[in-house]
Amino acid sequence: MGNKIFYFTGTGNSIAIAKTLADSLGDTELIPMASAMHGDINIRGERIGLVFPVYAWGMPRLVVDFARHLKPEAGQYVFAVTTCGGTLGKTLVQLDKALQLNGSKLNAGFAVRGSFLISLEGSNEEGLINFMSWLGRKTTPDEAENRLPEIARIVKTKGSHKPETSNASVNVIGSMLYGFGLRMFQKMDKNLSATDACVSCGTCVRVCPRENVSIENGRPVWHQDCESCYACVAWCPQHAIVFNGKAPKLPAHHPDVSVADVMLR
Ligand SMILES: Cc1cc2nc3c(=O)[nH]c(=O)nc-3n(C[C@H](O)[C@H](O)[C@H](O)COP(=O)(O)O)c2cc1C
Repeated sequence: MGNKIFYFTGTGNSIAIAKTLADSLGDTELIPMASAMHGDINIRGERIGLVFPVYAWGMPRLVVDFARHLKPEAGQYVFAVTTCGGTLGKTLVQLDKALQLNGSKLNAGFAVRGSFLISLEGSNEEGLINFMSWLGRKTTPDEAENRLPEIARIVKTKGSHKPETSNASVNVIGSMLYGFGLRMFQKMDKNLSATDACVSCGTCVRVCPRENVSIENGRPVWHQDCESCYACVAWCPQHAIVFNGKAPKLPAHHPDVSVADVMLR
């Protein structure tokens, strides 16, 4: 029986990591969490992996929903890799708890730093992010490229690896900010708009993990159920989607990932 890796990605880091791990493990199916949630999640597999980004020092809303629906069989090996900009907080501990509620557990949980970080002018959380990075500096995860061989080795042997975490200061502050952060992200799309460069191609609709974008009168419209993953901004072939009126710095996504990789429908 092969393995399954479920992933969620906005700007491509997580799918790049999921692909590398799938290649190292062999016989591994890659499945977007967003698509898997449409019916019962088929969890048949030797190993189940979850790969996703850290949002507000915790699990993105989509991953919370996914973990709630995921019911691994008793004894099935579950691992996770979370990718972040520098401070993961209690993301993996949170995932372990969610799995325990379903009678399972996280056998191995790793955090890596994504090799790509989207740069959006006008997003004003930078000061807080820098402060948290400074606070967590002794527990900053290593870059994905450096850790993936070790992670693959552990997962291949179904080894245990205690869910990695930041230090206590980051975790306390991060836990306080998490709920607020997720609520804020849900409405983040009010800052998004399309410029005249938009050609109504619908890529934004097809990459959105929340089905939160539709095309109306030839332009994308967002419906305030945003994950704040920036997939619509990152993958727009015309770079027509702007944040607070400003285009992202290019490149806006992981260089080794293509739009075809992240299409959900
Ligand atoms: C809405 C949002 C919240 C984020 N929160 C954090 C965070 O709390 N800590 C952190 O280190 N990085 C944070 N990041 C950075 C992402 O975790 C990081 O860029 C990740 O590699 C993105 O993965 P992806 O390319 O698969 O979407 C955040 C990014 C976004 C878009």
